[in-house]
Amino acid sequence: MTTLFSPFTIGDLSLPSRIVMAPMTRRRASHGKIPGELNALYYAQRATAGLIIAESTEVDPFSAIDVPARPGLTNDAQQSGWRLVADAVHSAGGRIFVQLSHMGRTAHPSQLLDGRQPVGPSALRAAGTVYTAEGVQPYATPQALDPAGIASIVVEFASAAARARLAGFDGIEIHAANGYLIDQFLRDGSNIRTDHYGGSLKNRARILLEIVEAVSAHWPVNRIGVRLSPTNPYQGMYDSNPASHFPEIARLLDPIGLAYLHVVEPPAQPGEHPVTASAIRAAFAGPLILAGGYKRADAEYALVTARADLIAFGEAFIANPDLPQRWLQGAVLNAADKSTYYSGGARGYTDYPCLELVEN
Ligand SMILES: Cc1cc2nc3c(=O)[nH]c(=O)nc-3n(C[C@H](O)[C@H](O)[C@H](O)COP(=O)(O)O)c2cc1C
Repeated sequence: MTTLFSPFTIGDLSLPSRIVMAPMTRRRASHGKIPGELNALYYAQRATAGLIIAESTEVDPFSAIDVPARPGLTNDAQQSGWRLVADAVHSAGGRIFVQLSHMGRTAHPSQLLDGRQPVGPSALRAAGTVYTAEGVQPYATPQALDPAGIASIVVEFASAAARARLAGFDGIEIHAANGYLIDQFLRDGSNIRTDHYGGSLKNRARILLEIVEAVSAHWPVNRIGVRLSPTNPYQGMYDSNPASHFPEIARLLDPIGLAYLHVVEPPAQPGEHPVTASAIRAAFAGPLILAGGYKRADAEYALVTARADLIAFGEAFIANPDLPQRWLQGAVLNAADKSTYYSGGARGYTDYPCLELVEN
């Protein structure tokens, strides 16, 4: 019977368990969006995950300001910082992918260099607010990208992918979820283009497919994952028919031979399964990771019923660096302190306790 502790293989990468650490922004990069020793310690502490997916990492070199202290992967210093992280995780026996992301319309003008303006598929402002150095502000209306602008973003993803390889990661995850640029193209609530990047589903998915192709110049396809969030309304996102559109997207990705598809969709009632994710499973033959509020029991159920191959856990990993060990021993989990998710510094980041090792 498949459990969270059954080994799994992604391409030629052996994972000791089905337990994935979900990508989580923690806003603890140093000046210049550069990861450092603190980040290396945080990820190394969590190296017993079957696979770590490191936080959303910016591919846009003009997103170079320090607030909100998200890391980038656009220059040598950021690449060297990530090398520290990847090396620390490997020394601790772990495996780590990095999530590559472009903010698109969710960037605030104050977060962009050289007077750059936020961009998106269409000049449609996201509902809601964004955290900036001047406090919380409404999202700005983005400039609709022209084809040349899209092409240069595809190149930025490829360049960050090349740097991810040099930094020593085991693979990359393309962030096509949670209201960031690629998701903005995929969902029809944010994409009203009439050129060949809008309208039909094939057109809306074109940028994603172009990015996957571009990054595969630097990685074997079985080390490239894609994250989707068909139903997540975060950052004002909406799609008119996710249960039909996202399986279609999965079908377009299926022949490529990706490392995995990673779908953010909460488990429905116990014993049920999210509708969109079920249809994606049927449309995509490769490995499927599910994430979004999974408890251990939901996760085991999804695995035993073959509805997913792996399950990603977010908040549980923030508070429990040794999450797999705790589950193995049936130990109590630490509760996560939400007030320190984005607070910076070691507190609430690298100071969650591990279980005491019991000597026999
Ligand atoms: C503090 C925090 C930061 C997050 N940052 C990211 C991110 O950078 N990229 C991403 O795709 N999802 C991000 N997420 C979403 C998680 O990857 C995950 O899908 C979500 O937390 C649901 O899983 P959970 O209930 O197990 O935490 C974040 C979640 C949290 C709590």
